[in-house]
Amino acid sequence: MYCVKTIKEDLFWVGGTDRRLALFENAFPIPRGVSYNSYVLMDEKTVLFDTVDRAISQQFFENLEAVLNGRSLDYVVVDHMEPDHCATLGELVARYPDMQVVCNAKTVSVIKQFYNFDIDAKAVVVKEKDTLTTGKHTLTFVMAPMVHWPEVMVTYDMTDKILFSADAFGTFGAMNGNLFADEVNFERDWLDDARRYYTNIVGKFGPSVQTLLKKASALEIEMLCPLHGPVWRENIGWYVDKYLTWSSYAPEEKAVMIAYGSIYGNTENAANILACRLADLGVKNIAMYDVSSTHPSYLISEAFRCSHMVLASVTYNGGLFSYMEHFLSDLKAHGLQNRTVALIENGSWGILSGKIMGEALAGMKNMNVLEGTVSIKSSLKDGQEASLEALAKAVWESMQ
Ligand code: FEO
Repeated sequence: MYCVKTIKEDLFWVGGTDRRLALFENAFPIPRGVSYNSYVLMDEKTVLFDTVDRAISQQFFENLEAVLNGRSLDYVVVDHMEPDHCATLGELVARYPDMQVVCNAKTVSVIKQFYNFDIDAKAVVVKEKDTLTTGKHTLTFVMAPMVHWPEVMVTYDMTDKILFSADAFGTFGAMNGNLFADEVNFERDWLDDARRYYTNIVGKFGPSVQTLLKKASALEIEMLCPLHGPVWRENIGWYVDKYLTWSSYAPEEKAVMIAYGSIYGNTENAANILACRLADLGVKNIAMYDVSSTHPSYLISEAFRCSHMVLASVTYNGGLFSYMEHFLSDLKAHGLQNRTVALIENGSWGILSGKIMGEALAGMKNMNVLEGTVSIKSSLKDGQEASLEALAKAVWESMQ
């Protein structure tokens, strides 16, 4: 049975949700599920904007058939070829053999990599600012390479001022009946997942996102239709501001994140004491994470949110504790920059973690490592409270 949502009198959401998948891209936990959005425009020509992941193909085709209501499908616009959006493209082509595929030249190559159907015979190849009139509506195309793959483009409906934004403005989280962002408490219930989605999936490509945002600023946008998560028709500027912040690697909040790697609890104890001293100084909403038990995608997201990080790690096998090492290498891979960092190191027979963390941070852009790294030999000793207090003061002062 179909499950369709009406967006406008001639525009329909025909996507679906997956609450069973444990790991998105087999990498990112999605306890709230995920949606794969697909949209149909019922104009003189019928147009589908992207397909969906294989996991929800049955729901998707039932939805599509219900909306088409006996009409054929004239076009599919392929904005993005990652399989969470293109896995059902092959079946779509088989079901609608006369349909044309609207895409750019790079997309044609990627389609050939994934599929064997004759895309050259079906492709309507578009480039920047080309237009396609479908009756009442005119669509135009904006190239958005590396948001999140090289072939990505976004499509703008000039008639209704709707931007089909591909992965941009997407988020983890299954739809719970409410399609529109103004029907949910997005800031309370969705923002953390939106940030985790952006930072982990697209965060590495900040300059490309900035380029897209600049192009989009020239468009009058009344509605944002991303490929994951709610559709935006109100307060779009608020969400665009988040994207401007994240993609420029500016901290979203003046806040402290403490990430610790501790084996027997001694490094964790130091992190706890530091957190208490920070709180004594008036720092609020301190976020603390055990890197061993927190999935790196949450750590990445928090590092993008917070202006300050405290990294506390034990030395391990003559190197850095592997979970902290993973976190730091992920931070570098995602291009994080412009943060202030304080360090706590620990070791029982050779203390190397502070040096290694410092070197890792030196390999990132504009990371300000505060002086006064606290060095622990196995466990804190009397008198070391003062050095933790001093480090807390240095963090606090750098926040003023
Ligand atoms: Fe939602 Fe890059 O795919």
